[in-house]
Amino acid sequence: MTLYSRVRPLAFRLPAETAHDLGKRTLRAAQSTWPTRRALRAAYQYDHPALEVELFGTRFPNPVGVAAGFDKNAEVTHALSALGFGFVEIGTVTPYPQAGNERPRLFRLREDEAMINRMGFNGQGMERVKERLETDGVPDIPLGVNIGKMNSSSETEAIEDYRRVFDRLSPFADYVVVNVSCPNTPDEFDEASPEHLQAIFETLEAENDRDVPILVKIGPDDPESSVLDLVDIVREFDLDGIVATNTSTTRENLESPNREEWGGLSGQPIDARSTELIRTIAAHTDGDLPIVGVGGVDSAASAYEKIRAGASLVQLYTGFVYGGPSTAKRINRGLVTLLERDGFSSVEEAVGADLE
Ligand SMILES: Cc1cc2nc3c(=O)[nH]c(=O)nc-3n(C[C@H](O)[C@H](O)[C@H](O)COP(=O)(O)O)c2cc1C
Repeated sequence: MTLYSRVRPLAFRLPAETAHDLGKRTLRAAQSTWPTRRALRAAYQYDHPALEVELFGTRFPNPVGVAAGFDKNAEVTHALSALGFGFVEIGTVTPYPQAGNERPRLFRLREDEAMINRMGFNGQGMERVKERLETDGVPDIPLGVNIGKMNSSSETEAIEDYRRVFDRLSPFADYVVVNVSCPNTPDEFDEASPEHLQAIFETLEAENDRDVPILVKIGPDDPESSVLDLVDIVREFDLDGIVATNTSTTRENLESPNREEWGGLSGQPIDARSTELIRTIAAHTDGDLPIVGVGGVDSAASAYEKIRAGASLVQLYTGFVYGGPSTAKRINRGLVTLLERDGFSSVEEAVGADLE
């Protein structure tokens, strides 16, 4: 019996966001001293040469990362590295602090191994995040920065929001993600319309002197044709990749009473749809456009499926909440076994294997 399997029932008695905050406080305390960081590393890190991935000029020690939303304000990046994750994506970061929606706004669906959230881009804003990255330092694993607009911004103001957060935080980032797919922020205009996306990409391109890789995060609910239109725009602007996918507004085959809550659904129930979209995008681009696969990853098998469907890297949030601190180690170890079983010498070799 692991420590987490004993702690989890207690943590799950607390409201979800309280448990999350408590978990983050524990991680923040653990990362603050060398001995505790070293102890985490000794317990949870798993290295293997087959897991290394080279993507957009950056070396990822393994393909299993923490998805955006877990560490919105860059408070626990060092602890997440010590827990054996291969990269971490902070954010979504907005230009100014923002309270988000009223609590409760995060719900567990235990029977479905899922969560629903309507956080609404709560965060401390880019200046606080910049300060923290300066004082704490960036982690020793690649850092993604997920950027967003203020909830109150008009279509024109939104472009300026992205530009400002990009300007402030891209110097710390190994890659930046433009998040136009949050289902629980106010819909003042269509964030994923081709005109709006083109305006954002033009602006960021002009700002990107250091050639920081830029990716776009998409949702799982749009029809295939609009996803592929977006992919074509991404290629037209020579962006570096797609993060697929964000949370879903669909509610199919769910058992938990919390399925009635509004917000974005994550975890097991969105796994298949996310993988299907990854496969569609990879096939459409002949595997040329890097894809970060996210949505329902909770095991080596689910990570491997996304990799074989065309994802070069995977991320998770909900699977980490249910699986606890040994999640990255368990998935990475299992991935090595699956690669060996199928005769691949590395993760990179397995990317898109199901497309052939
Ligand atoms: C509580 C919570 C907050 C999230 N916040 C963000 C966010 O700020 N920006 C973002 O791009 N995605 C956010 N996400 C979405 C995740 O990054 C991920 O795309 C989604 O949860 C699917 O992955 P999962 O099934 O592994 O959780 C959030 C997810 C959860 C559960």
